[in-house]
Amino acid sequence: MAAVELEAVTKRFDNFVAVDNIDLEISDGEFFSLLGPSGCGKTTTLRMIAGFEFPTAGRLSIGGREIGLDPPNKRPVNTVFQNYALFPHMNVLENVMFGLLMQKVPKDQARDAAAKAINSVKLEALLNRKPNQLSGGQQQRVALARALVNEPKVLLLDEPLGALDLKLRQEMQSELKSLHSEVGITFVYVTHDQEEALTMSDRIGVMSEGKLLQVDDPTRIYEHPAKRFVADFIGEINLIEGSVDSSGTVRLGDEVIACASPAPSGSQSVTIALRPESIDLTVENERIGGAMNQIPGIVARRTYFGDSHSYDIETSGGTLSIRRDNRPLNTIFDPGQPVTVSWHPDASNLLED
Ligand SMILES: Nc1ncnc2c1ncn2[C@@H]1O[C@H](COP(=O)(O)OP(=O)(O)OP(=O)(O)O)[C@@H](O)[C@H]1O
Ligand SMILES: [Mg+2]
Repeated sequence: MAAVELEAVTKRFDNFVAVDNIDLEISDGEFFSLLGPSGCGKTTTLRMIAGFEFPTAGRLSIGGREIGLDPPNKRPVNTVFQNYALFPHMNVLENVMFGLLMQKVPKDQARDAAAKAINSVKLEALLNRKPNQLSGGQQQRVALARALVNEPKVLLLDEPLGALDLKLRQEMQSELKSLHSEVGITFVYVTHDQEEALTMSDRIGVMSEGKLLQVDDPTRIYEHPAKRFVADFIGEINLIEGSVDSSGTVRLGDEVIACASPAPSGSQSVTIALRPESIDLTVENERIGGAMNQIPGIVARRTYFGDSHSYDIETSGGTLSIRRDNRPLNTIFDPGQPVTVSWHPDASNLLED
């Protein structure tokens, strides 16, 4: 069953369309991320699921039930905000118990539930600390415990690690991931950090200007982006123009190449997307085995990155950027040197604009 379902959901603020006709089904227990640049509508989508905003059009269901205009506290969801929103005068235990006490849950019962939530985020040693006596990462855990305490079916997380430095952020990413498998509830996670989305999610929805452009698992999003925006937003990529003849043969400059999918019928040109690390370089006329695309080129530029070199290679179809690991026996190529550029057909994706 779908934990969360959006059907043709649109949100307008006056004349501005913040969320544009989104269809989305998030499965029970899934770690789902909404990824996109600032202002693309991620928070607005999350706030509609939470009940802080209502769709201008479309339908929203949680746990198979259409929720209409139910307020946030009548929905089986809870939200973790970026700024934690902890009460400064309450200690950890009181912060986590607060919501339950407001719902008139008996004190003993609230205390037990809070202790359980606090254990799940490994804060049992710090029950009596106030927020200003905690590190950023510990405050984040209190915010998590507080959202988990009334056992929501869906946890909504809006850039929850945004305020943490890189090291702590990576630590919390892996903790969040294990927490997700422990508690077994659905996570809807908002981030503009592509690496965070790729490493943590079961599936990712990429958004731009209010539209949901592609929903797929991380491997497919990275290796088979369907649209130019998705390809360009996530990681580095070569976007090159190819030509298509009447029989559907794709050419890059003078060279016929094979791609992951056939060119759209009737098109005369296509955008080919090719990741720098999926391209191989060998010396001129040295061919690699297998059904590879192999074209000649000339090294135009080499840049040292410590763990790798990046090369710009000029081909008859344009310049390709190539990334190669610095393993001990890897050949280093020099500017001006003729080379053979190779890649597997599956690595060249044809994009819709
Ligand atoms: N209450 C509001 N009134 C008018 N416009 C709004 C309102 N809330 C959001 N917007 C606009 O809707 C668009 C989407 O905002 P949203 O907060 O959903 O973006 P976001 O993807 O979460 O961005 P960020 O990564 O910066 O948090 C923005 O252009 C924003 O200015
Ligand atoms: Mg936001």
